[in-house]
Amino acid sequence: MTTTTTPAGALAGKVALVTGAASGIGAAIARAYAEAGADVVLTDLDGDRLARTAASLPAGRAAGEYALDVTDAERVRATVDDAVARHGRIDALVNCAGILTEVPLVEMDPATWDRMLDVDLRSVFLTCRYTVPHMIAAGGGRVINVASQLGQKGGEGLTHYSAAKAGAIGFTKALAREVSRHGVLVNAIAPGPIETPLIDGLSPEWKAAKGAELPLGRFGRAEEVAPTAVLLASDPGGNLYIGQTLGPNSGDVMHS
Ligand SMILES: NC(=O)c1ccc[n+]([C@@H]2O[C@H](COP(=O)([O-])OP(=O)(O)OC[C@H]3O[C@@H](n4cnc5c(N)ncnc54)[C@H](O)[C@@H]3O)[C@@H](O)[C@H]2O)c1
Repeated sequence: MTTTTTPAGALAGKVALVTGAASGIGAAIARAYAEAGADVVLTDLDGDRLARTAASLPAGRAAGEYALDVTDAERVRATVDDAVARHGRIDALVNCAGILTEVPLVEMDPATWDRMLDVDLRSVFLTCRYTVPHMIAAGGGRVINVASQLGQKGGEGLTHYSAAKAGAIGFTKALAREVSRHGVLVNAIAPGPIETPLIDGLSPEWKAAKGAELPLGRFGRAEEVAPTAVLLASDPGGNLYIGQTLGPNSGDVMHS
């Protein structure tokens, strides 16, 4: 397991809640936050893998594990409220839970579309809906939504995923405008292709074509995304980011 080079103490005293923390980018962010001194509340659909991720954090930094389906509104609300009751607040919410399937539009059934939007977009609404009021009451907080560069440029066979991730980016901008005056800073990260179990759902052809078009010439690793999430949650490093979409993406998308 690779460790990050997170500045020690950058998030000391902070409480963070991470969804999708059992695997890939979410697990790497949970570890990076813990290495930076945060107390990390880990949540994921997969409770067994979540326990293994929690055990990999620096001693004392795992501040709770919840087997949580982010599509279940009542469970999201109860989990957030329980974490706030235990720790007093949530300083940073990181939305990482996600799924990926590759289906051409002409073969996609409505249930596949609905499931993608449910897990990859509606979940972002739900976690924010129940966490942001606590942040406003506490005088501030940070929300980091893990979108995708495919929400910016689109991906073949991925209309549902691209739409969900574009939705997460639009949601991020709107919420940032709505709550920044309360000290709640909302931003997104749009990684390029990252070597995690998620991309097992993509065909070898898709991955080869994507690899060939990346200026960096390779996919990223989860540990190369996590420091961006640390930056956005940190003070002063993250203080001026509002409604932004940061792109650790191997050059797949270049902003002007
Ligand atoms: N890997 C990539 O190439 C890549 C690129 C850009 C964006 N992303 C995004 O990053 C995020 C993390 O992806 P990853 O690559 O680490 O994938 P991953 O498969 O390694 O991790 C995703 C996690 O989400 C969890 N999850 C899935 N459905 C859930 C649900 N209903 N409720 C709660 N948890 C659920 C899974 O159990 C898993 O632990 C996703 O939102 C993904 O879309 C990934």
